[in-house]
Amino acid sequence: MEIIRTVDWMKQVSRASRAKEQVIGLVPTMGALHQGHFSLVGEARKHCSQVVASIFVNPTQFGPSEDLAKYPRPFEKDVAALESLGVDFLFAPSVQQMYPKGFSTYVSVEQLGDRLEGRSRPGHFRGVATVVLKLFEAVQPHLAFFGRKDAQQLAVIRRMVRDLEVDAQIVACPIIREPDGLALSSRNVYLNEQARAAATTLSGSLALLRAEIDNGERDIVRLLADWRAFLAANREVVLDYAEIVDAETFESVMNLRGTCYAVLAAKVGGTRLIDNALIEHSADRFIVTL
Ligand code: PAJ
Repeated sequence: MEIIRTVDWMKQVSRASRAKEQVIGLVPTMGALHQGHFSLVGEARKHCSQVVASIFVNPTQFGPSEDLAKYPRPFEKDVAALESLGVDFLFAPSVQQMYPKGFSTYVSVEQLGDRLEGRSRPGHFRGVATVVLKLFEAVQPHLAFFGRKDAQQLAVIRRMVRDLEVDAQIVACPIIREPDGLALSSRNVYLNEQARAAATTLSGSLALLRAEIDNGERDIVRLLADWRAFLAANREVVLDYAEIVDAETFESVMNLRGTCYAVLAAKVGGTRLIDNALIEHSADRFIVTL
């Protein structure tokens, strides 16, 4: 695996790969890699002849009071893991490479990017969209792999790709969870023992929602009330939002129809966690996937 540190070199490598008709797959990450990230690499290897992973802790997507400085950066460990998974190139640019002096152009996905996560973390999706477009420019991927764990991020990126006619196909990958249901996240390392135990309430609440839908409940008001009551019952969990939204626009829905997400964000022991369930409707049946 070759580690690439500059945008120029990454572009040269990508141009050469495209000339050789390689199918380039990109897995963008901020490092502190876990099985969730590795599953994206696995998908990329299935579909692409050349896999590029990126590690870049992107300052523009962190708010002023967020965890940019303390975000975990176990770079050597990440390199070893990607190497063992057969990644061909690791793009790991410096902040100066990605945001040289005078940098002042941003991509903002309006409305969709202002709701829920966007409302709680102003500027977050502007930072995400900007860096992902820059990564796409550097790596020139045919396919780019994202986790459904960050469902709104996935929707923002799909919207950006459509609106700006970006020549890359976005592939969504399932959420990888701990055996007790907690969605894997680089931020789980912040959880102490008590918070780690309480954190299972998030996926537990989604499992409850799924059970109610499986049992035939269709009333959004009742579903939301029961779901939120379950979350509120754990005093370690400080809920930010729990909403059922349209999968494309992230607007709240009044009825279960089409494809929706049940999305939630909460602080557990001071650490902000997100989780979601996908709710799909086909032939009068609802399929809820955690
Ligand atoms: P990061 O949080 O490192 O996540 C990188 C990718 O891994 C994202 O697509 C995310 O959805 C996916 N991922 C994280 N946890 C997962 C899990 N438990 N199961 C499946 N996939 C999971 O998301 C970012 O970085 C950044 O915003 C980025 C897109 C790299 C832009 O800076």
